[in-house]
Amino acid sequence: MSDRALHGGNGYRTPPIQRSCRDRVGGCDRVRMRVLVTGGAGFIGSHLVPRLLAEGMRVAVADDLSAGTWDGLGSALQHGLSPDEIFIADIRSPAGAAVIERWRPEVVVHLAAQSRVTVSVREPQHDAVTNIGGTVNLLDAAVRAGVRQFVAASSGGTVYGEMPEGLDRLAETAVRDPVSPYGVGKAAADSYLHAFQRLYGLSTATLLLGNVYGPRLDHAPGQDVIASFIDAVSHGRPPVVCGDGTQTRDFVHVADVVDAFTRACHRGITGALNIGTGVETSIVKVARLVCATLAAPIEIDHAPARVGEVRRVCLDSSRAHALLGWRARITLADGITALAAPQRPGKVVTVGARQASNARPDPTLGGPLDSDDHGEDH
Ligand SMILES: NC(=O)c1ccc[n+]([C@@H]2O[C@H](COP(=O)([O-])OP(=O)(O)OC[C@H]3O[C@@H](n4cnc5c(N)ncnc54)[C@H](O)[C@@H]3O)[C@@H](O)[C@H]2O)c1
Repeated sequence: MSDRALHGGNGYRTPPIQRSCRDRVGGCDRVRMRVLVTGGAGFIGSHLVPRLLAEGMRVAVADDLSAGTWDGLGSALQHGLSPDEIFIADIRSPAGAAVIERWRPEVVVHLAAQSRVTVSVREPQHDAVTNIGGTVNLLDAAVRAGVRQFVAASSGGTVYGEMPEGLDRLAETAVRDPVSPYGVGKAAADSYLHAFQRLYGLSTATLLLGNVYGPRLDHAPGQDVIASFIDAVSHGRPPVVCGDGTQTRDFVHVADVVDAFTRACHRGITGALNIGTGVETSIVKVARLVCATLAAPIEIDHAPARVGEVRRVCLDSSRAHALLGWRARITLADGITALAAPQRPGKVVTVGARQASNARPDPTLGGPLDSDDHGEDH
């Protein structure tokens, strides 16, 4: 399928549609919630869109495919995403705003972003124009289109900056003092959401994610710590840790993140919600866990520390638990075991088996688990 073929490259083609559409689902009439997912072809979007469709929602995707891919939409198309509701559009442009004004979603889940800390250090203007300017462009359109709920992905790993000494978890009330342009941009976008809520009554929420990991479709080696460790160890090389490896992160599985966004679509929540496990794990420990999982000798190489990264991240997600009934259910050990399974022939591993009975499974986890080769410390 060619990308621009669907919409002629102008970002918009489908005629305006009534907001509440009555569809026949399972033999009976039912009103389907209309959800627009920006960045739906990216890592998190490629898991979220199929899940929302499986929940019976009517979903559209807006993405410029600068980082996302058509492959990322493959599962969504299998789950019923209409090709007419894929808009190749830049969120910074009038065409990006037009998607919201014309398709008229009830809920916007805003994932589209320049998503890398290292790129933000190298190209801070690009980062700001995309992550701040693009978000404001969409917020403006959401107000004009009467959107009910605007939920954006933010970054619990960067907007707070360094964790103060003596603190073991960061709550949403923690001081925000980001050290990277990416963190500054995400914090600014969060403030714009808050301002639009106060000015125009648009219901806005930001989910501040920990380090999201899980199966990915793209293969850009060296960008995701867990994926690059699995890749290295399964090819007989030692994992390469940046810095001394004592820096910590809150690793949260993409299936848990998808569950949080799905719940946020259903509830009229506002404000900031951390989405993490509350478990602080050092990078060296992750390297050891990967070696042990793949039954390899524990040998670790080191590379220079990355610029713009914080030392420690650990998120307190009790607000998400209180407002969404959400908590992370997949342990890092289980998540790594599932990701490493393709490198261990004969082992069939699925994650989520220990989820509580009321947690819905992520439909995208049923397929083969591709090696996770992308993303960095957010
Ligand atoms: N992955 C993580 O660990 C993590 C952690 C914290 C926050 N986040 C945030 O979650 C969101 C999704 O992250 P991801 O890991 O899926 O990132 P990703 O880079 O895989 O996906 C981002 C998507 O946005 C699209 N996009 C980029 N610029 C665009 C533009 N100008 N117009 C339209 N589309 C554009 C890309 O093509 C891509 O499909 C991002 O906002 C990211 O900052 C991610």
